[in-house]
Amino acid sequence: MKVSTAEFVKSAFKESDWPLDLKPEIAFLGRSNVGKSSLINSLLSVRGLARTSSTPGRTQSLNFFSINDRFRFVDLPGFGYARVPQDIRSTWGEMVTSYLAKRRQLVLSIQIVDSRHEPTKQDLQLHEWLEHSNKPRLLVATKSDKLSNNELRKNLEHIGSVLEDDSILAYSAKTGRGRDELWRAIKSAIS
Ligand code: GTP
Ligand code: MG
Repeated sequence: MKVSTAEFVKSAFKESDWPLDLKPEIAFLGRSNVGKSSLINSLLSVRGLARTSSTPGRTQSLNFFSINDRFRFVDLPGFGYARVPQDIRSTWGEMVTSYLAKRRQLVLSIQIVDSRHEPTKQDLQLHEWLEHSNKPRLLVATKSDKLSNNELRKNLEHIGSVLEDDSILAYSAKTGRGRDELWRAIKSAIS
C-alpha cells in the first residue's frame, strides 16, 4: 500500500465525536502498552503520528487517523491498566464496546497481543467478544523482535491454543516484520 497522506483527524471521547462520513475503518485493540500506537506508526512509516509511550495508559480516547483520504485507522485505548483514573476507566469499556458494536464503518478489528506473554483474561474476553461479533478480525502478536525465532514459534503456538485461534500474525514495529502481510489483510478489508 502506498501511503501518500496520513493525518490525525480527531480524538473522540463520546459517540457524537465520531467522524460522520462512511469511509471504512480499521480498529486496533489490545491491552495497555502492548504496542498499538507503535504498530500504527510502523504501518504508516511515520514516527509520532499515533502517540506512543513507555507509560501504559497513554491513549485514553478513540483516535482517528485518515489515510490517503480513503480509509481510517482507529487507535483505541488500551485496557487493563489499573492506574488510569477511575472515571476514565469506567468509560473505557463503554467507549470501546459501543464503538465495536455500533460502528457500521468498521471493516476489520485487529487484536494485538504481546508475543512474549501469556494472554491475559482480558485478551481472552476481547478475543471471544470479537469472535461472537461475527465481524472480520485479525490476531497479531507484536514485539516479536524481543524473542528468538524458536521462542517466537513456541509462544505463537501457545497463544494460539489459549485463544483458540490458529492464525496469528507475528509483528514487530521495530523491524517491520509482518508489515506486508498486515497491509495485505487491511487492503482486502477495505476493498
Ligand atoms: P497505550 O496507548 O498505553 O494503550 O499503549 P500502546 O498499546 O499504544 O503501546 P505503545 O505503542 O505506546 O508502545 C508501548 C511501548 O512498547 C513503547 O515503549 C514502545 O516503544 C514499545 N514497543 C511497541 N511495539 C514494539 C515492538 O514491536 N518492538 C519493541 N522492541 N518495542 C515495541
Ligand atoms: Mg497507544
